[in-house]
Amino acid sequence: MQTITSIQALRSCIRQWRPTGHSIAFVPTMGNLHAGHIQLLTTARQKADKVVVSIFVNPAQFGLNEDYASYPRTEKQDQAILQEYGADVLFLPSEAEMYPQPPKTGISVKELSTMYCGASRKGHFDGVALVVCKLLNMVQPDLLLLGEKDFQQLLLIRRMIADLNIPVEIHGVATVREADGLAMSSRNSYLTPAQRILAPKLFEALCKVRDLILSGNRDYDNILKTQINALQQIGFSVDYFQVCNRTDLLPASEDDNHLVLLIAAKLGATRLIDNLALQTNV
Ligand code: PAJ
Repeated sequence: MQTITSIQALRSCIRQWRPTGHSIAFVPTMGNLHAGHIQLLTTARQKADKVVVSIFVNPAQFGLNEDYASYPRTEKQDQAILQEYGADVLFLPSEAEMYPQPPKTGISVKELSTMYCGASRKGHFDGVALVVCKLLNMVQPDLLLLGEKDFQQLLLIRRMIADLNIPVEIHGVATVREADGLAMSSRNSYLTPAQRILAPKLFEALCKVRDLILSGNRDYDNILKTQINALQQIGFSVDYFQVCNRTDLLPASEDDNHLVLLIAAKLGATRLIDNLALQTNV
């Protein structure tokens, strides 16, 4: 595996692959790799001839009071993982390489960028859209792999790619979970041992809501209120918990069948997100 830090060197590496007809898959990450990231890489390996993984902790997607400075950076360990799982290139740019001057161009995916996580993390999704668009312009992959764990991010990037005619196919990869159901996340390392024991309750709440809906209950407001109360009682501070239409993420009506449950909640200072898709007309 080659580690490349400059855009110029990345482009010349990719220029060498192109005439040989190799397909290229791209996995953007912020590092501190775990089994969720590895699943993206493994899927990329199966679907394309060459795999590029980027690690860049993108300042543009962190708010002023967020964890940019303390975000776990584990470069050496990440490099070993990428080597082991067969990435061809690790793209590891510096902040100066990615943002040589403060960008004056922004990408904002209307509505999708301001609802749910976008409402509590102002500007977050504009930062995500900008960096993913820049990375796609640098790598120019055939295939982009993203996790369903960040469901709103996946939908937003899908829409950006459609709106801007970016020539790449997107593949969403199912959420990888710990044995107790907690979705794998780099931020799980912030949890205290006591919080870590509570954290799987988030996924349990998603499963309860799913089961109630599948058993025919359509009183979404009531179902959610009960689950939110139960989570608050054991120490979660729930940011949102919503039954959404899976296509546009608007709150679902009784007639919508193609659903996704979205949740975000804090345990102490740590913000956890999760989601669960379900289909009601089967
Ligand atoms: P990061 O949080 O490092 O996640 C990188 C990719 O891994 C994303 O597509 C995310 O959805 C996926 N992922 C994370 N946890 C997962 C899990 N448990 N199961 C499956 N996939 C999982 O998301 C970002 O970085 C950034 O916003 C980025 C897209 C790189 C832009 O900066």
